[in-house]
Formats: sequence, C-alpha cells, structure tokens
Amino acid sequence: MAHTPDAHPQLKSEQILIMPRPIRRAILPVGGLGTRFLPATKAMPKEMLPVVDKPLIQYAVEEARAAGIEQIVFVTGRGKTAIEDHFDDSFELRETLSSRGKTAELESMTAMVGRPGEIAYVRQQEPLGLGHAVWCARHLAGGEPVAILLADDLVLAGKPCLKQMVEAYQETGGNMVAVVDVPREQTGRYGILDVDKDDGRLVSVKGLVEKPAPENAPSTLSIIGRYILQPEIFDHLETQERGAGGEIQLTDAMARMIGTTPFHGLRFEGQRYDCGDKVGFIEANIAFALEREDLGPAVRERLRSYIS
Ligand code: G1P
Repeated sequence: MAHTPDAHPQLKSEQILIMPRPIRRAILPVGGLGTRFLPATKAMPKEMLPVVDKPLIQYAVEEARAAGIEQIVFVTGRGKTAIEDHFDDSFELRETLSSRGKTAELESMTAMVGRPGEIAYVRQQEPLGLGHAVWCARHLAGGEPVAILLADDLVLAGKPCLKQMVEAYQETGGNMVAVVDVPREQTGRYGILDVDKDDGRLVSVKGLVEKPAPENAPSTLSIIGRYILQPEIFDHLETQERGAGGEIQLTDAMARMIGTTPFHGLRFEGQRYDCGDKVGFIEANIAFALEREDLGPAVRERLRSYIS
C-alpha cells in the first residue's frame, strides 16, 4: 500500500511520493536437502545445525525480527518438521524450566516462540531451485515488498545485516541485495553483480549472473542470502524459466527487473560466514563463540593450544 497524505499529514507530498513501501514480511526458504552436511542432515534439517548453541534458522529469524519484520513465511519440505517444532511452544520444557527456577532459559525459550500467526509454513514439493522456493510463498506475500533470508549465510555484525539493508532501502527503494567481495576463483558459487556505479557502500547494478565461471564473471561482488525485493518478482518467477544448474533461479528473475526497478547491492558492515560450506560453518562456530562473554576467553585459550 502506498502512503497517502491523510495517513502522514506531517509529510510533504513530494516526500510521500518517493517513500518506499515498508518491509513487513520475510520469506525463509528452508526446503534444501543439505547433502553437503550428510550424515548430520540425514534426519535433521540443515537449518537446525547449531552455531555454538543456537540453530542457524534461529539466527535468521532473530535477524528478521530485529529488522522490523512482522510476518515470516518458511518454505519447507519433507523432513523439516523440526523447524516448526523449534518455533512452537513446548509445554513440557516450559513446565520443567519453570519448576527448576531456570528463569533465564525460560525467558529465552518464550521469546523465540512466534506470536500467534507470526509464522506461516508453505511446502515446496520439489527442489526446483531457490527461485521456485520463493515463488511457492507468492500467495502469502500479500502483494508487498518482501525480505528473503537464507539461513546458510550467517552474518556477525553490530547492527544486524537486514536492518542495515532496510535502512539503506529507505534511501533507494526498489530491489536490494547484500554483497561481499569474493576471490575470483569462487564466483561459480554465487550470484554475481554486473556493476554500474559503486560509491564504496551502495552499488547500482546493471546486470546479474548466477554462478559464472571466474573467466566470465562481470565482477567479484557476490550476493549473500539477504534480499529485499518488490512484489513484481513473483511475476518474473511465474515463467518458471530454468537457469544455471537447470534450476529456477532467483537471480535470473531479479535480473529481469533491472531497468524497470532500481537495483542496488549493499556492502554491509559485518562478517559473513557461508555455513553451506564446512569450513565456513566451522569458522562461524569459532567466531560466534569468541564473541560470547561466557565462552570467548576459554575458547580463545583452547585455540591457542591447537595453533601452537
Ligand atoms: C544462492 C543464490 C546465489 C547466492 C547464494 C548466497 O545460491 O542462488 O545467487 O549468491 O545463495 O548464499 P545457493 O547457495 O543456494 O547455491
């Protein structure tokens, strides 16, 4: 819904015209098989893998909430019910923590559970690609711009990555992705930007390529799993065109919007860990543990002994 002068009488009409629509909904695709982490992911969703003591998916949900997201849609698949249980009330656990006087644990468990109706679930029946997963949530997006978070990408930052994006989006409107520079030999793992203008923080984009070989990559700026997209993305996904790897790619649908919708990459402040990769996942565990007041000193000490 566009803002009207009546709803915001304090704003001048020219401000109202350029004010981007707020981001209230997030889509979290969690249908992937997680084959890279077998056997750990045989009976457990890869999104439930813990970094220190919290599953990857909880970091993503907390980041969404911190950015002002009010409604979350999980695109799930077979074998993913542990995610639904994780964000549900557990009467037995609540009773046990309460009777043992474990107040801090009880509070953190309660905070995690969604408000009634906050979280919705839709299933992706076939693993046809990220674009297809997002398209499965089209009826729950309410015709509004949406945030998309991929739980595999974990960001350690003072201000959560999606919040940084929402703030930048207030300036730019349109579509936005979070980006990081990667070594050229890694372009084949990510969506890569064809850069138009670059001010060091915001990059305006003239093209996108999904997983190009290093010699064909238009830059080394790669998309991480954080997106803000206008609702027209669903029209572009509707065509179900296959792209890299024979999959329906979100990157291709986004690329088709360039020219009609402003498109920016944001070099966010913080460190991204690619937890879809074993080394990245181990590194995330170390980095997040070192950040913790209760664990950092002991972990640092142990690491020293390994290195020496
Ligand atoms: C997906 C996207 C890719 C993006 C990446 C970020 O790839 O298709 O453009 O760079 O996430 O993690 P996937 O990791 O699903 O292969």
